[in-house]
Amino acid sequence: MPHIQWNAKRYEEDAKFVRDLGDEVIALLEPKVGERILDLGCGEGSLTLKIVESGAVVTGIDSSYAMVEKSRAKGIDAYVRSARELDFYEVFDAVFSNAVLHWVPQAEDVADGVYRSLKEGGRFVAEFGGEGNVATIMGAIEKLFGDHPEWGVFENRWYFPSAQAYRQVLERAGFREVHTQIIPRPVPIKSIENWLELFGEGIMKEMCDDQKRDFRSKLTDMLRPKLYDADRGWWADYVRIRVKAVK
Ligand code: BEZ
Repeated sequence: MPHIQWNAKRYEEDAKFVRDLGDEVIALLEPKVGERILDLGCGEGSLTLKIVESGAVVTGIDSSYAMVEKSRAKGIDAYVRSARELDFYEVFDAVFSNAVLHWVPQAEDVADGVYRSLKEGGRFVAEFGGEGNVATIMGAIEKLFGDHPEWGVFENRWYFPSAQAYRQVLERAGFREVHTQIIPRPVPIKSIENWLELFGEGIMKEMCDDQKRDFRSKLTDMLRPKLYDADRGWWADYVRIRVKAVK
């Protein structure tokens, strides 16, 4: 995953919607008492705890040390690991992942690692950003960077695959019974500034403080007509890909 200095406390407070949306993915996972489950990208552990409550034996991994510390403070068996370098061999009955895999463009490496980690018959259940995710926000960012070359280069390195492309990735890794589905899901956010602070740190990496202020304010102005109304407030144009596959 790219090296992002996650602010674990901020994330826990302001990105609550991420774990709330994860409840449906846990329902799809159907964790059972005694099953060994890997939570790939456990973050600060709130969703992981819900899987633990089902009676499963859960291991969490995350690329962020700060997040792993937060998970451990909740009593979760969590480790710092990259999703690209899973070093488990036929250990888990299921691998679960929510709102993480769009950070990892090396999708083939992840799929191979998940496949290796699962026991025969084990399942992979995941949800993350799919084709068209935050397209309005990304389009506005690309336009602003085009208009302001002095801000540096905007590299859109997120991985938002189509249902068909991701099905192929999983089938090539060896999975069967592969189901992939694109789900448009606009989510309420506090503000564009707050969203940028949570998820867009790398976007402003080459800007000085004045440029960051200018960028945030221009982006907010550009997106207000599309992603804000007085009754609902701000929202982000999320699109998810939901995945279930069997080894
Ligand atoms: C998402 O959760 O969909 C997301 C996160 C960061 C950047 C873009 C999208």
